[in-house]
Amino acid sequence: MTQLPPTAEDLAQGRAYVAPGVTVYYDARRCVHVANCVRGLPEVFDTAQRPWIQPWQAPAERVVAVVRTCPTGALHYALEASEPERPADPTTVRPIPDGPLVVSGNLSLQTPGGEVREVRAALCRCGASGNKPFCDGTHLKIGWKSGEAPTVSGETGR
Ligand code: SF4
Ligand code: FES
Repeated sequence: MTQLPPTAEDLAQGRAYVAPGVTVYYDARRCVHVANCVRGLPEVFDTAQRPWIQPWQAPAERVVAVVRTCPTGALHYALEASEPERPADPTTVRPIPDGPLVVSGNLSLQTPGGEVREVRAALCRCGASGNKPFCDGTHLKIGWKSGEAPTVSGETGR
């Protein structure tokens, strides 16, 4: 049986930053500071400003495009009168050298708090995250090494 994709409510995780037409959600516990957001749209994502996310500083479609590049699922968006983010198909699993498994697709994750429906996530594989099954950046602090070749990737779901 095909599982329905996550709903807008499923993806509304963390603190909300509201602008006309678009809301950005940020779950700090799942941010590993890859900085795709800061590089992609510095006028909206700027850790030197308060609040650090200001979605009203750019057109909603540009905000959405950058939110979707957040590999960990720390960032989500909701567009007024529009469908929630569609999961990638097929689901992909990509090991980051010396870091987490980055997963993208129609996800059902079992967590201590119950099932989490997701479209993007970074899963801990160093074993030291304080927010399992998600990566919380601890692998960097402890200098964990994965030991594999630098660019290994794989796909599931075909
Ligand atoms: S994990 Fe997501 S929210 Fe955190 S810095 Fe990277 S792109 Fe931004
Ligand atoms: S892989 Fe990032 S905390 Fe374990």
